[in-house]
Amino acid sequence: MKNKLLIFFVIIVSFGFIRKLSESPVTKNDVVLKYPVSFPKPLYNFEQNKLSPEIFTLGRKLFYDPILSKDSSTSCESCHQRPAAFAHIDHALSHGINSRIGTRNVPALQNLIWKDAFMWDGGVNHLEVQAINPITNPDEMGESLENIINKLRRNKEYATLFRKAYRDSIINSERILKALTQFTGLMISANSRYDRYISGKDTFSDQEKNGLDLFRKKCASCHKEPLFTDNSYHNNGLKPDSSLNDKGRAKLSAIEKDNYKFKIPGLRNIELTFPYMHDGRFRKLKDVMNHYSESANKNMDSDEKLKGIGSLSDKEKKDIIAFLLTLTDREFLNDKRFADPNFR
Ligand code: HEC
Ligand code: HEC
Repeated sequence: MKNKLLIFFVIIVSFGFIRKLSESPVTKNDVVLKYPVSFPKPLYNFEQNKLSPEIFTLGRKLFYDPILSKDSSTSCESCHQRPAAFAHIDHALSHGINSRIGTRNVPALQNLIWKDAFMWDGGVNHLEVQAINPITNPDEMGESLENIINKLRRNKEYATLFRKAYRDSIINSERILKALTQFTGLMISANSRYDRYISGKDTFSDQEKNGLDLFRKKCASCHKEPLFTDNSYHNNGLKPDSSLNDKGRAKLSAIEKDNYKFKIPGLRNIELTFPYMHDGRFRKLKDVMNHYSESANKNMDSDEKLKGIGSLSDKEKKDIIAFLLTLTDREFLNDKRFADPNFR
């Protein structure tokens, strides 16, 4: 009888413990900025937006909340989905309120604090103001900051979250944007098999090693390690899509030589962020390899760096893809801090 009681007691206690774990509130340790020594110094400075579990939690709630859109249909997460490293799973072009289709592919959200500008053309130069774009874009969330502030002020849950985060009841756009920045800024992908291989904690197969060698010879001049971008703009030889006619960087600079140049994307978690390129034209990494091998460097005025790729054999293409797959970062993808707070 005593034994039975004890077992009963143990079950009750462990049930409570498991429940606590699954609720796992964000703690102080969760909001410490950590990155490998091989990474450069971040360009975004959290000193102006001091990391705290409460502000991060507010940012997380906002990121997953359709309240930020005009008709309460679309959250940041509608387009930036966690299983795809916060790109839009299998969507070539972005998809906003009222099923409106945008003009560009949704980029993955990761390692943003190392970027000097955002969007495919670098049209936004500060992480804190980036969110204003999707919020106010009629093809995305179609809302105004003013309306959002009013909606949040009427909402009891947000009153509590803002009070916890900022110790008073003021709700304004600066706080909304800074909280979102704490959430997205801590999305750091730095523990893929590639990272562990570089730091001597994992091994590569011969195919992956060969892929990395080829990548370093043919691709890394643009996709620079360890972030796989040097933050510059290039035309990588894609034939312009005549229906979208997206001139990329030139849209901003109005300089002819910037025509069809786009920001070099970092390639981390590339296995999951398909379809690829600013307009999502390629579904598979194989298509990307065929592009670099067969068409990118044939263009008369194509970049010298693209000409250096030359034509790739089937084996070379496969080896490079095998290497690219080592950039998948399960730790980042499964990181509970970035999970939907409504379904823990
Ligand atoms: C309707 C789809 C959609 C929604 C909703 C959306 N985004 Fe985006 N996001 C995009 C697209 C598309 C781009 C690229 C835009 C471009 O290049 O013109 C982008 C770009 C970004 C970038 C820049 C990434 C980079 O590497 O340059 C950040 C950061 C970002 N979004 C955060 C957010 C946040 C925060 C929210 C919610 C407030 C949000 N997005 C809502 C589609 C969306
Ligand atoms: C001249 C610079 C340059 C070189 C060299 C280069 N790339 Fe790119 N890469 C880019 C740019 C710029 C883009 C984005 C183009 C766009 O969307 O219009 C891109 C896009 C990509 C993408 C799609 C990323 C995404 O998120 O959609 C992949 C994958 C890729 N490159 C892999 C490679 C590989 C593999 C090599 C070597 C065989 C390579 N690149 C060589 C500049 C370069």
